[in-house]
Amino acid sequence: MQLLIAANWKMAPEKAAEAQKLAKATRVVAAKYAKKLSLVVCPPAVHIATVAAVSKVLKVGAQSVAGTSEIAQTGLLSAAMVKGAGAKYAIVGHSEERARSQNAEQGNALVREQLARVLEAGVFPILCVGEKERDTQGWYLSEVKDQLESALTGISRKALAKLVIAYEPVWAIGAKATREATPVECHEMVIYIRKIVADLFGHSAGAAIRILYGGSVDEKNAKRFIVEGNAQGLLVGRVSLDPKRFTTLIASVA
Ligand code: PGA
Repeated sequence: MQLLIAANWKMAPEKAAEAQKLAKATRVVAAKYAKKLSLVVCPPAVHIATVAAVSKVLKVGAQSVAGTSEIAQTGLLSAAMVKGAGAKYAIVGHSEERARSQNAEQGNALVREQLARVLEAGVFPILCVGEKERDTQGWYLSEVKDQLESALTGISRKALAKLVIAYEPVWAIGAKATREATPVECHEMVIYIRKIVADLFGHSAGAAIRILYGGSVDEKNAKRFIVEGNAQGLLVGRVSLDPKRFTTLIASVA
């Protein structure tokens, strides 16, 4: 299976010209390793069209979409709109977005709606799941199970085949991270996610689903999450905004 590397630019850059420059730099490395991996760039929505215009080698993804297609939703963007702007993928349920919900149930409910809208629009979802913290008793597993069951129950097998799951341990992400996750922790969760998908959709679906690792990946640890962690790709945040580091990261996994 070809690797899939998704670059989540988060809330950067500010200007369209900067987005274009970054996309051009990313295109160089995407073209170089096109046989080994596909690259999906997820810029802020205002830059989707700019990035999409840079090259077909780069696939473009949205960072979020509305959970509804009602037009009376000031400030939100529909899945059909981001598709129209050039997005082929959409991140659904990123932990930074889930954190804006009042609680886990509300977050899960929104994710279910968003996932349905993304699939309806014919966009490939990158569904993010991950626990807020780890404990020694394994309670964290039920958090991931709830997120997955809530999002996936009721979707068709055909829809499932379009879906990518990104495992993002929240405790390992960003400036407030307690520590880096280990490739072994990633591997355990990859197995666990496959089991949940297999319980819902059957063994072959569990074996086939693509799982990315997305907890603060950088150019030093990326390869281990693929080789030892058994992820079939990565969701890279801040490092993807630095072309030099991102190029080194891509070269290391390719
Ligand atoms: P990070 O973000 O690589 O900047 O830690 C990962 C993510 O949140 O997708």
